[in-house]
Amino acid sequence: MALVGCGSAAPAISISNQQLSERVDTSDDWIRSRTGIGARRIASADEPLTELASRAARAALDHAGWAPGDLDLILLATSSPDDLFGTAPRVQGALGAMNAVAFDLTAACSGFLFALITAAQYIATGAVRRSLVIGADQLSRWLDWNDRRTCVLFGDGAAAVAVEACPVSETGLLGFRMRSDGSRYACLTLAQTDGRETLLPGVSTQKGGFAPIFMNGQEVYKFAVREVPQLLGEVLAATGTPADQVDWLLLHQANQRILDAVADRFAVPHERVLSNLAHYGNTSAATIPLMLDEAVRDGRIQPGQLLASSGFGAGLSWGAALLRWDGPRG
Ligand code: COA
Repeated sequence: MALVGCGSAAPAISISNQQLSERVDTSDDWIRSRTGIGARRIASADEPLTELASRAARAALDHAGWAPGDLDLILLATSSPDDLFGTAPRVQGALGAMNAVAFDLTAACSGFLFALITAAQYIATGAVRRSLVIGADQLSRWLDWNDRRTCVLFGDGAAAVAVEACPVSETGLLGFRMRSDGSRYACLTLAQTDGRETLLPGVSTQKGGFAPIFMNGQEVYKFAVREVPQLLGEVLAATGTPADQVDWLLLHQANQRILDAVADRFAVPHERVLSNLAHYGNTSAATIPLMLDEAVRDGRIQPGQLLASSGFGAGLSWGAALLRWDGPRG
């Protein structure tokens, strides 16, 4: 599988820490010093996830030089769909990619990396030739805007990567690992509420609905700084790649302190750690492709460069991959 195009889309509205401090008891200084976040984009009430994801997808198609009809598979990594039955088909419809099968994949902030690895398996078997892997989330829908422990951390966004079949010797997915630990699910949840409805005397059903995001920040922080370097180290060892051969650390953008801790563990200079937390905060499944797209378009990431990537978050789930960016074919 080769990575041959990317694109992104973010809502126009940007909310600064200062603005947020007019709503909840927080401050720019607290948020910046603990997380590196300075602002986040927030989708308006008229901006569904389908629209953001479709804009990102079109940009990636244009970048790769593909027509919508070229696509065989669209994977949408999201935890905040427009429709619990699936939002990917809506994106497929909006693109007019009528030859593609499209479905959602949910693995919270690991979702994009899990989806990219999933697409690679379809490509490896020959079932799929060209795929768009989209990471898109609109967690603003599911935040309690009065809970300063969570609402300052997240933002909305979407980004996509175009991947296609290539000779095995030229693959852009050099190695990967994926992990889940549901015994620690309660650290970070966007869970069904326990509302009930009486159907008949003696028969009650659950009433659909979700509680706002809950997070035990300290537990999630400890999880990330322990597990991410461990898994990334395994991928580097398995692929025989010394850390100094990695061009960029492309990690899930949750917290600058986590990015710095991972970089220090591998003695990667901080200028080779990609970060756009200051402008977007944590956009969940979108962070990795959003960061990739920014760094490709401003020329930091060059064709042929190696990217050590890791996604981590609710589930708990985490994954790591060593990627090579190819860019658009001639
Ligand atoms: N503004 C001001 N004060 C805040 C605040 C905010 N937005 N959020 C929490 N506080 C307060 C707390 O109420 C607490 O005050 P108290 O001691 O009077 O009770 C104090 O700050 C310290 O809270 P604590 O939760 O211990 O802060 P922390 O240093 O652990 O930082 C996080 C909190 C969320 C920044 C940190 O735990 C973290 O980054 N965790 C990982 C989160 C993450 O990356 N999640 C996504 C994974 S995909």
